Amino acid sequence: MKFNRIPPKHYPIETSDGSMTLFSEAFQEACHSSNGARAETLHHYIEGCRVVERSELYSPFEVLEVGLGLGTGLLTTLEMFPPLQHLRYLSLELDRDLMNWFQEEHQELGLSWDGDVLQGHCGNAQIAILCGDARSTLPTYLQTIPYSFHAIYQDAFSPRRNPSLWTVEWFRLLREASHPSVILSTYSASTSVRKGLEAAGWGVLKGGPFGDKRASTRAVLDRPTDPEIQLQLQRAPVSPRFDLQLDAP
Ligand SMILES: C[S@@+](CC[C@H](N)C(=O)[O-])C[C@H]1O[C@@H](n2cnc3c(N)ncnc32)[C@H](O)[C@@H]1O
Repeated sequence: MKFNRIPPKHYPIETSDGSMTLFSEAFQEACHSSNGARAETLHHYIEGCRVVERSELYSPFEVLEVGLGLGTGLLTTLEMFPPLQHLRYLSLELDRDLMNWFQEEHQELGLSWDGDVLQGHCGNAQIAILCGDARSTLPTYLQTIPYSFHAIYQDAFSPRRNPSLWTVEWFRLLREASHPSVILSTYSASTSVRKGLEAAGWGVLKGGPFGDKRASTRAVLDRPTDPEIQLQLQRAPVSPRFDLQLDAP
């Protein structure tokens, strides 16, 4: 699908499955793999978090997306989610221009602003997108509107470009807001990210390959880290990221 308009400070890229992504000038990175924005979303998030099967078990089924981007995660979830189940979808986005663009580009969703939240009801889905730095918007919002996430799409830009959304403290916050059956899924298979998840109390599991990446990561609270991954983590001389290191030179 092509865009009607391009959001400020981004440029469009067509990926190899024909779906579009955006390259961010601010982060100097594309929002998706060039091997297919939609295919990657289906693989890592819809299938990775087993959204369709598990939506039957919990009502409402609660999803957190770290990084709205151009909305591929949200739109694909709405498309795949069983029509008779109830979805609560919370997304986080730093860039207000991008959110305004998304609202205009997808008027069919009927989203409107309430302060710093872009929100609405669309069929069986309740959608809220928090505008601002997720490190402060998420904990503040959860104080008044509680969630217990069944699925987390950890889809920030890469740890190198977007380090504050890959620290032990961030993963701890996500754990505290999660249902015991949660599945967190991310495209990253970096040792430092996996160590960060483990240090925050997650059990770390291997996720499948996509495009030119040989592996990805899933994390859960109801099982310990996979023994093979545990061994790799113990042997690797890499540390997890902590908030304290973010401002270090
Ligand atoms: C990889 S893109 C997300 C792609 C999106 N999930 C999709 O399917 O289109 C990462 C997004 O995270 C946002 N972001 C980066 N840092 C953030 C922060 N501290 N708080 C909230 N959003 C942030 C970026 O602006 C960007 O839109």
